[in-house]
Amino acid sequence: MSKQEVQFKKVVSHAKEYGYIFQSSEIYDGLSAVYDYAQNGVELKKNIRDYWWKAMVQMHDNIVGIDTAILMHPTTWKASGHVDAFNDPLIDNKDSKKRYRADVLIEDYCAKIETKIDKEVAKAEKRFGDAFNKDEFVSTNARVVNYQEKINTTLSRMSKSLEKEDLADVKALIEELDIADPLTGSKNWTDVKQFNLMFGTKLGASAENAMDLYLRPETAQGIFVNFLNVQKTGRMKIPFGIAQTGKAFRNEIVARQFIFRMREFEQMEMQFFIKPGTQAEWYEKWKETRLKWHLSLGMGAENYRFHDHEKLAHYADAATDIEFKFPFGFKELEGIHSRTDFDLNQHEQFSGKKLQYFDYEENKNYIPYVVETSIGLDRMFLAVFSNALVEETLENNTTRTVLKLPAVLAPNKAAILPLVKKDGLPEIAKMIVDDLKWDFNVAYDEKDAVGRRYRRQDANGTPFCITVDHNTLEDNTVTIRYRDTMDQNRVKIEDLREIIKQEVDVKTWLMKM
Ligand code: GAP
Repeated sequence: MSKQEVQFKKVVSHAKEYGYIFQSSEIYDGLSAVYDYAQNGVELKKNIRDYWWKAMVQMHDNIVGIDTAILMHPTTWKASGHVDAFNDPLIDNKDSKKRYRADVLIEDYCAKIETKIDKEVAKAEKRFGDAFNKDEFVSTNARVVNYQEKINTTLSRMSKSLEKEDLADVKALIEELDIADPLTGSKNWTDVKQFNLMFGTKLGASAENAMDLYLRPETAQGIFVNFLNVQKTGRMKIPFGIAQTGKAFRNEIVARQFIFRMREFEQMEMQFFIKPGTQAEWYEKWKETRLKWHLSLGMGAENYRFHDHEKLAHYADAATDIEFKFPFGFKELEGIHSRTDFDLNQHEQFSGKKLQYFDYEENKNYIPYVVETSIGLDRMFLAVFSNALVEETLENNTTRTVLKLPAVLAPNKAAILPLVKKDGLPEIAKMIVDDLKWDFNVAYDEKDAVGRRYRRQDANGTPFCITVDHNTLEDNTVTIRYRDTMDQNRVKIEDLREIIKQEVDVKTWLMKM
C-alpha cells in the first residue's frame, strides 16, 4: 500500500473512532457512498457551513440567503438540461463485471503520470538543494516535459470526444493507453455508454396518478426558479447574489474515496446575477474571492490550485475548479462557473413566465448573466479533516496523533479537566464549563490521568485544554494548554473567555481574507 493510501486509511478510521463520520445504516452492512455525521462531525460540518455563510451572505450586503425544497416541479430538470445531459460516460469490464466511469479511468491514468512528475521534482530538489528552481525544472527537463505533454494530449482528446459525444473514441483512448481494470488487471472492455445521474421518485398516492419527480442533483435550480421572487421582494439591484446550502443527490457509479463522492451530499452554492457582458470580470473576481476564503483557514497555499475546464458543461462559457491536495492527490473541491443566461432563459421558455430584470440605469429589461460558486460541504469537510490529521514524533520518541483543525472550525473549543477527582477541583471545573458554554462548545473530562486526557483531546481536535489544579483553589488561576504547540500558560479564570475568543472568533479568521 502506498504512503498516500495508508494516510487515507488513517483518516477514515480516525473519523469513525473519534465520532466524526459513520457509515450509513452500518448495522445492516451499510449503504454504499452514504454516510452519517456523528456527534463531533455534525459540529465540524456546521462550523464549516457557518464559516461559508458568514463570508458569503453576512459579509456581502448584496447577497441574500434562501432555502428551497429538495423536490421541485419535474419540468425544472427538463429546462435545466439535467434530464437530457446530466450523464456520466460508463464502461464495464466484461471479465470482472465491474462498472467504471470512463473519464475517471483516463484521469486516474494521468494522475499516475503526475505522480511520476512529482517524483522527478522531489529527486531534483534533493540534488540541487537551495539552488533548485521548480518552474525552470518542469519546463526544461526532457522527461518531465514529455510526461506533461502526454497528460495534456490525453485530457484534451478525452474532452473533445466527450464534447462531441464520440463515445467510441473514448473507448479507443482507453484501449490505446492500455488501461486495465484497477481491481483485476483485465483489459476486456465493453463500449462506453451514457448514464443519467438523477434519482427518480414518485409523488402521489396511487400508481396511475403518480407524478415522476427527481431528487435535486444540485441546489442551484432552486435559486434560479426563485430569482424574480427574491429580486422583487428584496428590492435587489444587479449585481446581486442568492446563496443556499442544502442536500443534493446523485446516483454516482464510481462512489469511492469515502465522503469525496457521495450519493447524498450537501452543497453550498451562490448564484451571482450580473449585467450581460460583465461575466469575465465577475468570474475573475469570484475566483479570487473564493480562493482567499480557502486560504484564510491556513491549510497551506501549496495545497490549492485552479484547474480550468476544457470540456465545458452545457450551461457554461467558462469554468474552473479549485482543486485541493487530498490524501489521494489534487481533486476538485469547488467549482466556479460562468453560466451565462442559460438557466434563466431556459426557465423562461419552459414556464412561459418572464424572468427578466428591469435595469433603471439602462432603462431596459434583460435576462441577467450568472457567475456561480459551488462547493461541496462534505468535500470541504474531507479537505479540512484530512489536512488536520497528523502524527508527530515527540522529543521523548513517543508519537502523538493530533487533529490540527483550524480553531474556528473545531467541534469543541476547549476541554476543562480537573487534575484529580477530589478536593473540590471537579466542582470548579464544572463552574468553568457552565460559564464558558454560553459562548463556546466546551467539554468536561475527568477520566484517566491528565496526560491521557490531553492526548484524547489532541486526537479530537480540541484547541485548548484547561486544567484545574490545587493552585486554582488558592489564586483562581488555571493552566491553559495549546493543542498544536503543547505550550502551557497559567492564566486567571476570568481571562479564559477572552483568550479563547481571540483564537476561535470567525472575525479573526475571516479578517485574513
Ligand atoms: N451547481 C453546479 C454544480 O453542481 P458540480 O461541479 O457538479 O457543479 C459542485 O458540483 C460541487 O459539489 C463540487 O465541486 C463538489 O465539491 C460537490 N460535489 C459534486 N458531486 C459530489 C458528490 N457526489 N459527492 C460529494 N460532493 C460532490
